[in-house]
Amino acid sequence: KTEDHLFGAEKTKKTKKTIGFFKPIEHTTKDELVLPEGFKYDVIAAYGDKINEKGDTFGFNNDLTLFFPIEGSSERGLLWVNHEYTNPLFVEGEKQGDKYTAKQIELLLYNQGGSIIEVYRDKDGVWKMDTSSPYARRITGLTPCRLTGPAAGSKAVNGATTVQGTFANCSGGITLWNTVLSCEENFESTAQEAGLDPTHYGWVVEVAPFDESFAVRKHTALGRFNHENTAMGLSKDGRVVVYMGDDKKDAAVYKFISKGKYDAAAGLKNSALLEEGSLYAANLRKGVWVELTIDAVQQALASESFRVPANVGYSKEELIAMFQTQADVLVYAHEAAMILGATPTDRPEDVEISPFDNTLFIAHTNNDTHGNIHGHITRFFEKDGDLGAMEFDFEIFAAGGRQSGFSAPDNLTFDSNGNLWTVTDMSGSSMNKGVFAHFANNGVYVIPTSGEHQGEAFQFASAPVDAELTGPWFTPDEQTLFLSVQHPGEQSKSLSELTSMWPHRPGDTIPRPAVVAITGFTF
Ligand code: FEO
Ligand code: CA
Ligand code: CA
Repeated sequence: KTEDHLFGAEKTKKTKKTIGFFKPIEHTTKDELVLPEGFKYDVIAAYGDKINEKGDTFGFNNDLTLFFPIEGSSERGLLWVNHEYTNPLFVEGEKQGDKYTAKQIELLLYNQGGSIIEVYRDKDGVWKMDTSSPYARRITGLTPCRLTGPAAGSKAVNGATTVQGTFANCSGGITLWNTVLSCEENFESTAQEAGLDPTHYGWVVEVAPFDESFAVRKHTALGRFNHENTAMGLSKDGRVVVYMGDDKKDAAVYKFISKGKYDAAAGLKNSALLEEGSLYAANLRKGVWVELTIDAVQQALASESFRVPANVGYSKEELIAMFQTQADVLVYAHEAAMILGATPTDRPEDVEISPFDNTLFIAHTNNDTHGNIHGHITRFFEKDGDLGAMEFDFEIFAAGGRQSGFSAPDNLTFDSNGNLWTVTDMSGSSMNKGVFAHFANNGVYVIPTSGEHQGEAFQFASAPVDAELTGPWFTPDEQTLFLSVQHPGEQSKSLSELTSMWPHRPGDTIPRPAVVAITGFTF
């Protein structure tokens, strides 16, 4: 039932108000994480903070957060946090000449990946990190990762079955068996700087936060591209479905469907479902999911009428040489999708499944190459509401711009009243300039998905200078919202000309990306 939409965990306390649990804030350029009246944030962990007794430290540019309750608690649990990229000004330092030193490469790799930290709310209501946690650990660009699925050990990945590390970890999602899926997005520059094989990156990485003996793994069956995130659900016949965005201009929306069926009692063993299945990309003109297979790609390439799509950077001859096996289709998933008629879309970032009606929300952030400056949120309707369907219809659910009050939608999450929460990602170089000036800093917006305010955006938070708010995630009781504050002060030209000093911790000399816990939800 989705008629009323007042935020709150306890259904009994809902009222007929569609929105009204907070007083929306105004756009602002303040160097602060600004929240509505009555809300506060606690900084849980910032770049460089010690996370465990071993002395591991919190990485840079935090993104995805996922809360894993301990013993069902909404006040103590493990928090997974992605670390997407570094900034030479604050982390590894500038290159001397055209190369990084070995020490700089180590810093570059160590400060990406992810952190597992233990967090709790103390008796005064303040969220803190528990550095005595036996679970707290880092996954980095140095951690060995196992490849699974059809491309593991194939020629397409130069025979690798184990690869070095994970980096460019942007967003991701949670599995039905309580593990992390962390997505490798813009991996190219780090792979190049560190002299690593680019075919070993651009995958979906699985981590079991409570179980260090579960090898970190990259599931090649889910394809290799600039992965933004994952959203997992079940088809009507019980197979696992994973939706995924490929954050590039003119890129496809994907879904993976497992061969086997989900078994709740099997726990971590369900991970094997991500090793075998079918990968599809969306054709929006026809409303169909196109399966990416080597036979179909080879057939398309052999056709007299084949023309290389505009957004594929290879000649026909190169493509014919490239596509020999199914592993090649997975490693070059974007090229395969375009060859098979998938629709190039405007930077598909976060994808979320509505818990109310199984519709799918996709943040199309923007695409200035054909005039989509402020982006939009697309909603897919799978045929018969079945995530396993091969056909869908879609609508533009909300469009960025002055009329809606937001620009560049990125990560999405739902609350239990059907409100869609979106963060925005105007780039640092365009923020507060030209047509972006209207929106001031990046923020968090709450958008009801039905009712009289359907599609309207209400601003809940504003980011510090140059920052982007990422990875919103609620505790099960919805009394706490975790949020990453990524790249504050990113446009700083030097350490003596800093554009931000957030989080304004006493004695600090640089701005620091940090994860915060927001509280103040009263119902
Ligand atoms: Fe890393 Fe597409 O945001
Ligand atoms: Ca993102
Ligand atoms: Ca983004």
